[in-house]
Amino acid sequence: MHLGIDLGTSSVKVLLVDGDRAVAETSAPLSVQRPRDGWAEQDCESWVTATRAAVAALDHDLSGLEGLAIAGHMHGACLVGADGTALRPCLLWNDTRASAEAAEWDDAEARRVTGNIAFPGFTAPKVEWVRRHEPEVFAATRLVLLPKDYLRLRLTGEAWSEMSDASGTAWLDVGARDWSDALLARGGLSRERMPRLAEGSEATARISAEGARLTGLPEGVPVAGGAGDNAAAAVGTGAVAPGRGFVSLGTSGVLFVSSASYDPDPATAVHTFAHAVPGTWHQMGVILAATDALEWAARLTGRAAAELASADIAAPGRTTFLPYLGGERTPHNDAALRGTLLGIDHATDAAALGRAVMEGVAFALRDCRDALAATGTEIGPLLAVGGGARSEGWLRMVATALDHPLEVAAGASHGAALGAARLARMAGGAGAEVAAPPRIERVVEPVADLRGAYEDGVARYRAAHAATRGL
Ligand code: XUL
Repeated sequence: MHLGIDLGTSSVKVLLVDGDRAVAETSAPLSVQRPRDGWAEQDCESWVTATRAAVAALDHDLSGLEGLAIAGHMHGACLVGADGTALRPCLLWNDTRASAEAAEWDDAEARRVTGNIAFPGFTAPKVEWVRRHEPEVFAATRLVLLPKDYLRLRLTGEAWSEMSDASGTAWLDVGARDWSDALLARGGLSRERMPRLAEGSEATARISAEGARLTGLPEGVPVAGGAGDNAAAAVGTGAVAPGRGFVSLGTSGVLFVSSASYDPDPATAVHTFAHAVPGTWHQMGVILAATDALEWAARLTGRAAAELASADIAAPGRTTFLPYLGGERTPHNDAALRGTLLGIDHATDAAALGRAVMEGVAFALRDCRDALAATGTEIGPLLAVGGGARSEGWLRMVATALDHPLEVAAGASHGAALGAARLARMAGGAGAEVAAPPRIERVVEPVADLRGAYEDGVARYRAAHAATRGL
């Protein structure tokens, strides 16, 4: 048996598999702190306690566990002190406080080496922010780790990362799959303060006696490289072959497409990262608020998000929502952007607001589609994943906005936790063919009758952004 741990933004999920068959799946919640506008932090030790709770809830004899891997939310900056624990809360992927540092980092050299824009949410600009604003924390830092790699450190006592997650730091030479000494030096760092690098499907360390005590996992179990949550979801959904991809409606929204070669195009705000499997890469458009935007509307209206998400597709009305609640990455790269709600009238109720929010997220993903297409990427079969994909209406909106069918997998568990479990199997000797696409239960087609109305909606959405961005 193998275990996949998915350190998500809102919960830790653990999935126990026998081969590819799900045996048990549990989760434990996490919270995000937003002490100031644009800030988003998480207590690193809460990942350890949540993992312990989720493992205990499995209620399963784990003595036969052959291996595990961790998938995690990307880009987070964990600063580890001499005692091997975090010196401050993690600055999360959607924390945009480091926009000034990112703008400075984002020069021709950084783009040439990393193949990407240095977004404010990426790790290097955030560590640069800590160096400037909390110099005592930076001085005490012995190790800089990504979130899942912090959890691995607590489980194994060893500092490792892997290529997919390291791609989102702005310190990796993504084409060469190695740290860039020049970029590390720019941030006052060197390899001594960085984890060693593996491929996602390679073995790293083993669960230590302390890790076993902290989490209830058996000592000695090998831990594979794992992956950033998106690359892990790709392994879980079979999006490893070139052109295969997925749309994720999670806290963030992601349009992900796998590729066999490294073809960066930083000017488009598309992310070009190493995949979790050796010799492959992928591209993504990332929006910062997908279900996060619907949760916002739910809080505001006092409705459950699931109730708002039960709306079906209709021709978009004048009510237009731009989901930039905490800035945006693709295609705008603008940390200062904020959400906009336009065209409300006497009849606008909670349901209409919910639908406008879902449409706005669909239009934002359409911007990602166009950004990916502009780099020459051919978008092949797309699977729908993430909590928001449980809404049939939302899937129809996204399929229509993208003008691209969305596949829905049979059964549950086709996400990052399954991808992590599959990477653990690969590290134990299984071939890359375990990253197979799931059985497709049905395909959500674009609604042909609404294609024209949706194109009008996209045009209105873009005009709304152009008209309001400077306000
Ligand atoms: C990807 C990104 C998010 C996080 C959280 O670049 O920032 O998708 O990984 O899921």
